[in-house]
Amino acid sequence: MVELQKVSKQYDDGTTKHPVLQELSLKVNAGEIVVILGKSGSGKSTLLNLISGIDTPSGGSILLDGEAVSNQTDRERTLFRRRHMGFVFQFFNLVPTLTVQENLLLPRELVQGRVAEADEHDAKQLLKGVGLEGRHDSYPDQLSGGEQQRVAIARAIIHDPKLILADEPTGNLDYETGETVLRLLDEMVRKKQKTMIMATHSREVIGMADRVFQLYQGKLTKDNLEL
Ligand SMILES: Nc1ncnc2c1ncn2[C@@H]1O[C@H](COP(=O)(O)OP(=O)(O)OP(=O)(O)O)[C@@H](O)[C@H]1O
Ligand SMILES: [Mg+2]
Repeated sequence: MVELQKVSKQYDDGTTKHPVLQELSLKVNAGEIVVILGKSGSGKSTLLNLISGIDTPSGGSILLDGEAVSNQTDRERTLFRRRHMGFVFQFFNLVPTLTVQENLLLPRELVQGRVAEADEHDAKQLLKGVGLEGRHDSYPDQLSGGEQQRVAIARAIIHDPKLILADEPTGNLDYETGETVLRLLDEMVRKKQKTMIMATHSREVIGMADRVFQLYQGKLTKDNLEL
């Protein structure tokens, strides 16, 4: 499903080069949940951004469904991303001027070009699934952090993507809310047999992973403190 072959990434500030990822290889199979642990600044977001195509590697190749992303045009990449990927961002990224329902329907609108009655229905069902029944007309700032994150999770899966990329999905939630959000994500991903790559600095998530890696000095190593 996702394959990284000797992927490198360095940032160049004009005078010095900062290597972030160094010939990193990873293969994630369909239906797998992979957790990437690493301390702040280790390159977790960079890695997810490369997989999503938001950013491009300095070296190596990234294959999605066996096809090298570098061989695709911008348009192909964008379409693939819209159709097959779902993101859960650390800071939710809900659009403040849109209601919960409108935020939720954005990915479908992007794929289909319009929203049908069936989509409205699905959005309400999904909201119910994340424990926010009846909150479709609320605006993001009328929701708590945990509630917003639950909307963000629903939004990441409403267009039925194959691949979910989650960057610190519990980053700024308290422990208990974080647990609830994780359980929800786990349940949804498992039930629909999605592939998920989650980056975090918190070990609390490793219970839900099929495989856990540590990102350290630009490379992934198998996490040997697993479970
Ligand atoms: N656009 C950029 N230009 C220059 N340096 C960058 C850029 N983006 C990231 N970096 C650097 O790359 C390194 C990795 O950053 P990244 O955001 O991937 O870390 P992270 O593991 O996600 O950290 P956190 O846990 O704090 O979110 C950091 O040292 C950061 O300063
Ligand atoms: Mg990050």
